[in-house]
Amino acid sequence: MMRVTMLKKRASEREHLSFEESQPSGDRVGLRPPLKWAGGKRWQLPELRERWMSHQHCRLVEPFCGGLAVALGLMPLRALLNDVNPHLISFYQWLKRGLSIEIPRENTPSCYYRNRVRFNELVATGQADSAETAALFYYLNRTGYNGLCRFNRQGQFNVPFGRYANIGYMNGEDFFQYRSVFEPFEFTSLDFEAIPLEIGDFVYADPPYDVEFRQYSKDGFGWEDQQRTAEWLSRHPGPVVLSNQATARIKKLYKKLGYNLTPLTAPRLISCTGDRTPAQEVLATRNL
Ligand SMILES: C[S@@+](CC[C@H](N)C(=O)[O-])C[C@H]1O[C@@H](n2cnc3c(N)ncnc32)[C@H](O)[C@@H]1O
Repeated sequence: MMRVTMLKKRASEREHLSFEESQPSGDRVGLRPPLKWAGGKRWQLPELRERWMSHQHCRLVEPFCGGLAVALGLMPLRALLNDVNPHLISFYQWLKRGLSIEIPRENTPSCYYRNRVRFNELVATGQADSAETAALFYYLNRTGYNGLCRFNRQGQFNVPFGRYANIGYMNGEDFFQYRSVFEPFEFTSLDFEAIPLEIGDFVYADPPYDVEFRQYSKDGFGWEDQQRTAEWLSRHPGPVVLSNQATARIKKLYKKLGYNLTPLTAPRLISCTGDRTPAQEVLATRNL
C-alpha cells in the first residue's frame, strides 16, 4: 500500500548527497541531481562557471533544464527552470514542497512493471500531478533502462526494466534536503518559447542534440525547433550560453546570428542504444 506524506521536520545534512564540484553563489551548498537524465551537462560546469562568475547576480534561466546538473552546479540565488516534460517538472515541484515516499521500491522486474502500470493509470486518469505519480516517476527513472524517459504513441511510459546490480534509492530525508535548495527556484513546464524572460536573465540553453531519431519526450525536437531556439535566444538582450552537438548546420546557424563559438569535447555521448562515443560539442555565446 502506498503512502505519501509531507515531511515536517528538517532533515540533517547528509554528505553523500552534496555536489562536491559545485561552487555555489553566496553560501548556498549544492546537491547532486536526483535523477538520471540523458544529456546531463555536469561535465560543462568548469566552462560554464567561467562565464557565470561575472553574472552571479542574474536570474539563471534554463529553458531545457532536464536533470538540473547545471542549476545544481552553479547554485544561483534565483532561477527559472523549465522543461517541456511535465512529469520531470512535477517531480521537482514535489521535491520543493517536501516529499516523503513510501511505495514498493524493489529492484526487480515484477515490482518495476507493476509500478509502471500504476504510473500509466495515474496519468491516464488525470492524476499526473499527484505526489504518487512523482514518487513513481523517481522510482521508474532510477530502476528503468538507462534512466530513459520514453512514451509510446498512446502517451504511455514504456521504458523496460534496467537490470542494475544495485540501486541507491534516496529516502524521504534525502529528498527533504532539496526543499531549501529549490526554494529560490521556480519550475515551469512550457515550450521554451513561452517562458517569460526578463531583460537581464542569464540564459543557459541546452536543447536536445541536433541528431536524427533522438526523442527526449513524446514530442520530437527537429531542425525547425533548433532554428526556433537560435532565433528566440537571439532576441534576448541579456547573456546567453547555448550548448549543442557541433554539427555543421548548428555551427553555421549560430555563426550567422553573430554568436561566439567555443568547441568542446564531451566525455561521452549516452545514446538510446547505449553508445558512448566521445562527441564534439559547441558552446555558442552572446552578450557575455
Ligand atoms: C539535453 S536535455 C537537457 C539536459 C540538462 N542540461 C542536464 O544537464 O541534465 C534537453 C531537454 O530539453 C527538453 N525539451 C525538449 N523539447 C523542449 C521544448 N520544446 N521546450 C522545452 N524543453 C524541451 C527535454 O525534455 C530534455 O529534458
